[in-house]
Amino acid sequence: MSAILLAVTGLDPKAWEQRLRALAPQRDIRLWPERIGDPAGIAYACAWHAPRGLFSGLPNLRAIFSLGAGVDHVLADPDLPDVPVVRIVDPDLSMRMTEYVVLHVLMHHRRQRLYDAQQHERTWHEHDQPPASEVAVGVMGLGVLGRDAVAALSRLGFRVAGWSRTAKTLPGVETYHGYDGLDAFLRRTEILVCLLPATPATQGILALELLRKLKRGGAAGGAFLINAGRGALQVDADILTALDEDSLAGATLDVFATEPLPAASPLWLHPKVTITPHNAAASDPRALVANILRQIEAFEGGAPLQHVVDRKAGY
Ligand code: NDP
Ligand code: OXD
Repeated sequence: MSAILLAVTGLDPKAWEQRLRALAPQRDIRLWPERIGDPAGIAYACAWHAPRGLFSGLPNLRAIFSLGAGVDHVLADPDLPDVPVVRIVDPDLSMRMTEYVVLHVLMHHRRQRLYDAQQHERTWHEHDQPPASEVAVGVMGLGVLGRDAVAALSRLGFRVAGWSRTAKTLPGVETYHGYDGLDAFLRRTEILVCLLPATPATQGILALELLRKLKRGGAAGGAFLINAGRGALQVDADILTALDEDSLAGATLDVFATEPLPAASPLWLHPKVTITPHNAAASDPRALVANILRQIEAFEGGAPLQHVVDRKAGY
């Protein structure tokens, strides 16, 4: 039976390997770099930031499975062979991202950073709290994760809008699309959530000019940014400028151009910044290995692969 290669950097492959072996005991599971074996026997690669050029050396490769929803790390390989690249779509991943988005939207909405600071000073003081129905949240990216987050935010009562590349109709959500729709989307948005993929078209989109267009005079008491998409989308220096000039009242950042975020980054200690270590929606092998194996079995039974990315669009 054709082998599955696990090729990851930046995360511990042990749990993935154990899960693959447990759920597919009949399969030949290989591990890059120490147990790659005969490259000609490898039909599938499960990858997270695999080294560039690895896949082009696998002559019988049939598909590459990203261990996450994003595929920028795969498409960045200049020698990528012409095989399908499949991304993760799974309720476990969507739920984790929705938890993160809801947590941080509520943190800004309920001024939790302010109350944390007050607690530190033993200050008992209640601030005016607007209802969610007066606060405008905007989600960039209405894909699998964006749509799930938007549904949860709508249920909490926020005024929710979304922006995507192509037009969408979603119940109870104002939708905008394309660069022609971006300004109107930003001007009505107080809490901006970014769940875009990193592609040539989205690189550096979270720049000063964009952040300055967010609505500041609304019920939220300022504009806030939550980026859980990719670090390549944001311009760190512009976020710092926006915070210091009050175009932004706060930011939650989960992703960075360089990860781990270097210790010297001024973002770490900025009083208006909340940092998490790219764990908004961690890929959990307990849920996702079964998802990948189901796809491989169906594919070998003649079914088409699901969630194959459009390599030209980059997502
Ligand atoms: P999808 O491919 O399902 O959705 C992507 C969305 O982005 C789509 O709505 C798409 O528009 C929109 N989009 C893409 N390019 C543009 C553009 N140029 N202008 C406007 N909209 C655009 O992806 P997912 O929702 O599954 O995941 C989104 C991203 O989240 C991943 O690519 C990854 O980078 C990130 N992620 C981060 C995690 C973390 O832990 N921080 C975990 C998991 C994912 P359209 O609908 O028109 O195609
Ligand atoms: C992903 C991620 O793309 O974890 O799934 O960032």
